[in-house]
Amino acid sequence: MEKLTVGLAENKYDILIGDGLLDDAGEFIRPFCPTDGSIVTVTDENVWEACRERFSSSLSRAGLTYRAIVLPAGERHKSLPDLLGLFDSFARMSLMRDGLVVALGGGVTGDLCGFAAATWMRGVKFAQIPTTLLAQVDSSVGGKTAVNLPQGKNLVGTFYQPKLVVIDPSTLRTLPAREIRSGMAEVIKYGAIRSRELFKTLETGPSGDFSRIIHECCRIKSEIVARDERDLGERMLLNFGHTMGHAIEKQSGFERYRHGEAVALGMTLAAGIGETMGLTAPGVANSLRRVLTLHGLDTDYPGNPLELLPSLTTDKKSGDGGVRLILLSEIGAAFARQTSFTEIRGALEDLARA
Ligand SMILES: NC(=O)c1ccc[n+]([C@@H]2O[C@H](COP(=O)([O-])OP(=O)(O)OC[C@H]3O[C@@H](n4cnc5c(N)ncnc54)[C@H](O)[C@@H]3O)[C@@H](O)[C@H]2O)c1
Repeated sequence: MEKLTVGLAENKYDILIGDGLLDDAGEFIRPFCPTDGSIVTVTDENVWEACRERFSSSLSRAGLTYRAIVLPAGERHKSLPDLLGLFDSFARMSLMRDGLVVALGGGVTGDLCGFAAATWMRGVKFAQIPTTLLAQVDSSVGGKTAVNLPQGKNLVGTFYQPKLVVIDPSTLRTLPAREIRSGMAEVIKYGAIRSRELFKTLETGPSGDFSRIIHECCRIKSEIVARDERDLGERMLLNFGHTMGHAIEKQSGFERYRHGEAVALGMTLAAGIGETMGLTAPGVANSLRRVLTLHGLDTDYPGNPLELLPSLTTDKKSGDGGVRLILLSEIGAAFARQTSFTEIRGALEDLARA
């Protein structure tokens, strides 16, 4: 087992990574449980089918009991109505202020459940057991919680750190290939913004050695989060590909693309915009395309990217006639740049002509 610590001044917590850790999850979460040893777990139907047995055995071995809230799967359910549904269940279960809520699942479950835990009775303890690659390398760490509105992604949410993150890469064995590819987009993002070495490893193609990749991504993310918990500076770099990616998700009604697939398209567009504006070294967009393609991800937005512009205006990072884009100077180095919609439009038109 490997252990990383997210070194926040308040809310310091551990990320445990290792094959088989789901079988010991009860032991790990026990220190955070209320005195009656009863927890509430929030999961989705697919994860519950894949992980129920191991999760519940680990809890009974640790002398704990649980009540499970099993939600339908899918991004559509990271919504206000689903949040209200969770509150209703918490009330029926008499979840009290000393309670512990465990999110067992992907980023949708983690984001929704984290927001519910943050706001129920002004905050109950919360732990993450991520079961998708995307959640294991990214969403379970750092405390961003949210739900989507029809107007845009993650528009209602808060920062709320978990007490613990338990990552068991063996849970990925039941994850559909498409979800693995979606998670790889976030892995490639880490290489692109921060680690030329990780990027080089990824250039050799899929390896199946997820533990190493997860450890490296969590290391990068926990360092960045510890320096900038509230996304006011360095943490914004983790949004590389996300501004355009969120616009793509919104444009397609949150249904067509997996989050990582949209981020892959968004990263390619951002790299192209950066090159067109002379801010990104020539060839970076092609290197990115090659790696994304090698890992089974599409890199060409099938519509006209100009149609994404209206969606950018409701992005959380937009304002004053522009949006803060994360651009690469080269592979392994990123920066934030306030970019006007006129500049983005011009760059997208140039790209379409190229
Ligand atoms: N909070 C953050 O910092 C952050 C960062 C990145 C992404 N996100 C959010 O994460 C969400 C996407 O997360 P996701 O890609 O994990 O999607 P997801 O939670 O919808 O999971 C993807 C699919 O995999 C299934 N699944 C999960 N684990 C499984 C397993 N072990 N075996 C079989 N099936 C399994 C789920 O049921 C679902 O159908 C988006 O809403 C995105 O905005 C949040």
